[in-house]
Amino acid sequence: MAVYKPFAEVKRIAVLGTGTIGASWTAYFLARGYDVTAWDPGDGWKERLQAFVDNARPQLKAIGTAVGSEGALTMVDDASAAVAGADFVQENAPERAPIKIELYKSIDGSVPEHCIVATSTSGLILSDLQDGLSYAPRLVVGHPFNPPHLIPLVEIVLGKLTDRAAADWAHGFYNHMGKHAIYVNKEVPGHLANRLQAALWREAVNAVEDGLASVEDVNAAVSQGPGLRWALMGPHMVMNLTAGREGLATTLERFGPPMESWWADMQKTPTFTPELKRKLIDGIADEMGDRTMETLERKRDDRLVKLLQMLKATE
Ligand SMILES: NC(=O)c1ccc[n+]([C@@H]2O[C@H](COP(=O)([O-])OP(=O)(O)OC[C@H]3O[C@@H](n4cnc5c(N)ncnc54)[C@H](O)[C@@H]3O)[C@@H](O)[C@H]2O)c1
Repeated sequence: MAVYKPFAEVKRIAVLGTGTIGASWTAYFLARGYDVTAWDPGDGWKERLQAFVDNARPQLKAIGTAVGSEGALTMVDDASAAVAGADFVQENAPERAPIKIELYKSIDGSVPEHCIVATSTSGLILSDLQDGLSYAPRLVVGHPFNPPHLIPLVEIVLGKLTDRAAADWAHGFYNHMGKHAIYVNKEVPGHLANRLQAALWREAVNAVEDGLASVEDVNAAVSQGPGLRWALMGPHMVMNLTAGREGLATTLERFGPPMESWWADMQKTPTFTPELKRKLIDGIADEMGDRTMETLERKRDDRLVKLLQMLKATE
């Protein structure tokens, strides 16, 4: 069985693709003291990446992610050069299988033998991307949630050729650097967290289409209601506390039958017709008023920082 590097000896991380997710990963890795070698084929990416890292720094300090000395950022013009001296690779290329396959082939031969390569893919099946790669046993899904420099979750998924020990190494390494890694035990589109999110959004879209509530009120039904508890504990644990102190067995006995009848009534899968899209977009515009996307994004991240601080302080 392969032996991978002890976590404490990991010094350099390669980041491939520095858009929304790659830039955020870069800020996180640097804050944790890792040197990062980044590469992206887009125009103007170096300025954008540097600006993102500079903007994220205060947030990373505020939530206690930043360690004493930040790592050094090197930006290179070639993917193979980026991975050549790396102990770990985080790939964040666009979510299209042909692009990822091409990129993986282009770095074969340059990925060091001890190095694990993780892809941020949100929904691709890793087994479809692994054929013919010499480092396929070390290729694993390490799927973050946006923005990865703030949200702790990382989903680990193995492809058909992934070495279990490589996946375990990735799981341990993410935890070592302060993320919260979980295993998703089967390859399904969207892994786990996005499927949970999609299930809720399906009902949120149905609610608007069926005239159950306005876009604004659907948002409030989550953010002012159950969403508050879901940030503290997951859906099963919330249900464990639903029947007073009697636990999940009582919840299932008491609320199981009505829940089954609600589920039976919730079989509709919406289709994004032009009318439905218009209803959703108009509803969001009403709720946004004159707030810009930048304002909303900043508010989300500022409140996320405060929430993470509170969660850490009350662990
Ligand atoms: N946006 C999200 O919420 C989110 C969340 C988790 C995971 N992801 C995953 O992260 C990955 C990147 O998504 P994103 O949202 O950052 O996309 P993005 O479009 O913001 O960034 C993609 C970057 O890849 C670069 N790029 C273009 N061609 C490339 C190539 N051949 N090789 C490497 N890079 C290339 C682009 O210049 C761009 O900077 C995807 O696999 C996506 O599924 C996205």
